[in-house]
Amino acid sequence: MGMGNGAIRIGRQGQDWTVKSALDGEINIGLMGLGTVGGGVAAALLDNAEAIRRKTGRAARLRRVLVRDAGRTRQPALPPGTLTVNPEDILSDPQVHVVVETIGGDAPAGEYLERALAAGKHVVTANKEVMSRRGPALMALAQERQVNLLFEASAGGGIPIVGCLMSQLLANDIHSIRSIINGTTNYILTRMARSQTAFGDALAEAQERGYAEADPTNDIEGIDAAYKLSVLGSLAFHRRIPHQAIFTEGISRLAPEDFRYAAELGYAIKSLAIAAAAPDGGIQARVHPALVPEDHLLAKVDGVYNAVEVTGNLCGQIILHGQGAGRDATTSAVMGDLLNILRTIDNADGPPPLPLPDGGSPDAAHQVHPIDQLSSAYYMRLTCADQAGVLAQIARILGDGNISIATVIQKDTDPGSGTAQLVITTYPAREMDVQTALQSVARLGVVASVNNLIRIEE
Ligand code: NAP
Ligand code: HSE
Repeated sequence: MGMGNGAIRIGRQGQDWTVKSALDGEINIGLMGLGTVGGGVAAALLDNAEAIRRKTGRAARLRRVLVRDAGRTRQPALPPGTLTVNPEDILSDPQVHVVVETIGGDAPAGEYLERALAAGKHVVTANKEVMSRRGPALMALAQERQVNLLFEASAGGGIPIVGCLMSQLLANDIHSIRSIINGTTNYILTRMARSQTAFGDALAEAQERGYAEADPTNDIEGIDAAYKLSVLGSLAFHRRIPHQAIFTEGISRLAPEDFRYAAELGYAIKSLAIAAAAPDGGIQARVHPALVPEDHLLAKVDGVYNAVEVTGNLCGQIILHGQGAGRDATTSAVMGDLLNILRTIDNADGPPPLPLPDGGSPDAAHQVHPIDQLSSAYYMRLTCADQAGVLAQIARILGDGNISIATVIQKDTDPGSGTAQLVITTYPAREMDVQTALQSVARLGVVASVNNLIRIEE
C-alpha cells in the first residue's frame, strides 16, 4: 500500500518485509461529485457493502461526498454528515484513503487530484479531460507517492479498454486504434439514421439519459472523443498525444440526406476516433464523421454503445464493444478500479508500476501529423444547377487535382430552384488536394453549395 497512507515498515523476517498497515480497519472513500456517475458510485458503495467486503477482503466506507450545492435533495440519500461543499473535508482528512473523482472538467478537479495524490491518497477518476491534459504528470506523481491512479471510466464508459492497454495488451506494438468513443454522438447518429429523429431531439434524449457532458458541445464537436483518444493513444503509443494536436470535426453538418445517400452506397455514418502509427514514427490522430462499410463491425455499433478496435503486432485485431456512457456502465468501470485498489491496498510493494511515457519526461509528446497529409477516399455532396455540362466542369477540377472519381449519383432534383444534389465518391486522394479542389468547385457558377465532405474509412 502507499506509504503516504500510513503503512509502517516494522521489520524484516527472512527475505520478507513485514508491513503493519494503519488501514487494518475500513477503507474510507472520499467521493467528489454526486451526479450521473457519482450517484451510481455512491449507490453501489451503500447498497453493496457486504459484497464488496467479500470480493476484496476489505470494508469500504463512504466517508464524505463533495458537491457544489448542499441544498438539493440527493439520490441516493446519504448518511447524515456525509455531504459537504468543502473539498478540504476530503483532501485534508488523513482518514480518507481513496479519492474517487466524478466532478468532470479540468478545474478544479485536476488540482484536487494532484493534491490527493501528493497527500498519499489513492485516486480513481472518470475524468478524461484531466487525464488527457495532465495524465502523464499525475501518473508520475502517483508513482512517486506509491499510490494508485486508476482511470478506466475516462474512456469507453463500461468497456475495459484502459486496463487492457495498460496490462493485457502491453506486450504489443500497437499499429492503430479505430473507435467509436462518444456515446452521445453515436446515440444521435443512430437516431438520425434509423428513425429520422431531428438532431436537437436526439441530443435532448441523450441528455435526459445522462450520456452528455455538462457542456454537450464537447460531445457534438468531437472534443470529448479527442480527450479520450488522447488518453487511449498515449497509453497505446507510450508517449503523450496532446488532445490539441488531434484533428477534430463534429457531427453538426450531417443532414438526413447524408444518411440516406450513404446507405444507398452501402455505408453507415459514424463519428470515428482514430490513432495510427505512421511509417515515419509520427502519429495520425483524428476525430470526425466517416462513412463505414455496412458490413464492418464498427458500422453496427448503435445507440449509446461504443467500440474500440485495436490492432497490434501480436494480438492482431481486437474489438471491444459495450455501453460507452450512462450511470450503470460507468459505475461498473469506476467500481472496478476501486475494488482493485481495495484488493491490493495492503501490498507491501505498493501498486504495480504505471506505464509512464517513453522519452524521459511526462511531457514528451508524439509528433502528430496534420490532417492535410491524410490519404483517404471521400464522399462529397453538392447542390448544383440541374443542367448539361455541370459534372464535366466538376470532374475537370477534381482530375486536375489528382482526385479520381469512384461513383457519381444525382439525387433530389428540385424543379423549383432548378438544382439537384450531386453525390460523388472518390478513390483515395490527399486531403490537401481534395480541400483545394473543393474550394475551386465551390467557385463554379453552376455550384450553389458544397454541402458536405465526409471521409470514407474502408
Ligand atoms: P454530472 O452529472 O454533471 O455531475 C457532476 C457532479 O460534480 C455534480 O454532483 C456536481 O455537484 C459536482 N461538481 C461539479 N463541479 C463541482 C465543483 N466545482 N465542486 C464540487 N462539486 C462539483 O456529471 P457526470 O455525467 O456524472 O460526469 C462526471 C465525470 O464522469 C465527468 O468527468 C464525465 O466526463 C465522466 N463520465 C461521465 C459519463 C456519463 O455517462 N455521464 C461516462 C463516463 C465518464 P452538484 O450536484 O451540486 O451540481
Ligand atoms: N459524454 C460522454 C459520452 C460520456 O457521451 O460518451 C462518457 O464519457
